Amino acid sequence: MKSVIDILDLSVEEIEELIHTACDIIARPEAYQEACRHKKLATLFFEPSTRTRLSFEAAMYELGGNVLSVSSGSSSSAAKGESVADTAKTVSCYADIIAMRHPNEGAPYVASLNASVPVINAGDGGHNHPTQTLADLLTIYREKGRFDHLTVGFCGDLKFGRTVHSLINALSRYEGIEIVLISPEELKLPSYVKKDVLERNGIPYRQTTSLLEPMPDLDILYMTRVQKERFFNEEDYLRLKDSYILDLKKLETAREDLSIMHPLPRVNEISVAVDADPRACYFKQVLNGKYMRMALILKLLKEAEQG
Ligand code: NCD
Repeated sequence: MKSVIDILDLSVEEIEELIHTACDIIARPEAYQEACRHKKLATLFFEPSTRTRLSFEAAMYELGGNVLSVSSGSSSSAAKGESVADTAKTVSCYADIIAMRHPNEGAPYVASLNASVPVINAGDGGHNHPTQTLADLLTIYREKGRFDHLTVGFCGDLKFGRTVHSLINALSRYEGIEIVLISPEELKLPSYVKKDVLERNGIPYRQTTSLLEPMPDLDILYMTRVQKERFFNEEDYLRLKDSYILDLKKLETAREDLSIMHPLPRVNEISVAVDADPRACYFKQVLNGKYMRMALILKLLKEAEQG
């Protein structure tokens, strides 16, 4: 039973195949309207979400399937103390596939070991978020037409930002990638990602606290929110939350073909004036996320059927 807990659970070829399916869905949506008829997706979200949960659900509806949903820990038996393992066994009796978001790192993995249906990690703590990465990859593909020979700047909360960790893992498998890590000292990329991903794969990277200095070099600027919910104290959050605010002035030295990305939600990191700039891609990412989740649900259900 294939589950997707980490973006590296998908090979480069499988990602290519998902991109291909997503592009076909975009071109011929009617061909997929009945593809998941009589199938059920359970979305188990034990942490807040707008985009990820709704895009999973919209994806399943557009494939002709149905959705069962838990949208908060407090409304499910988790509040009574039920384990993730028991929840996974229970939901496997009702649904054909599960998407799970959980504040504890590794919880979707535990679910996948206990479920009898595929489990998709929809974000686990400050760890990983593979389906946001699929949305990001389709966006990069549609904007740049390639995944190689790109200089990518990641800016903001690189410590707790799970979308950053997953996208760095995904990009580490392509040629000619250079990474610029832009963050305050306290929110630097964890050393396990630097060592196990960047250094192990020989990806050149540099760390800086300045957003302005690397700007002219970037093909992609990936902005992120400071992850308030993972801070131990309010004071540190308040001090760091507005470390970087991208505005039109800061973009003066940026390339004409820069792609500005953000997994959203945005708090203050990008001024709304930037939204009208043709380089802003963050609302395209939202839509691309639905298409890639459609492609992933189709793939995992097909594989589960084939045993
Ligand atoms: C991200 C997440 O949940 O990690 N949101 C999302 O799924 N698009 C980013 C964030 O919350 O900052």
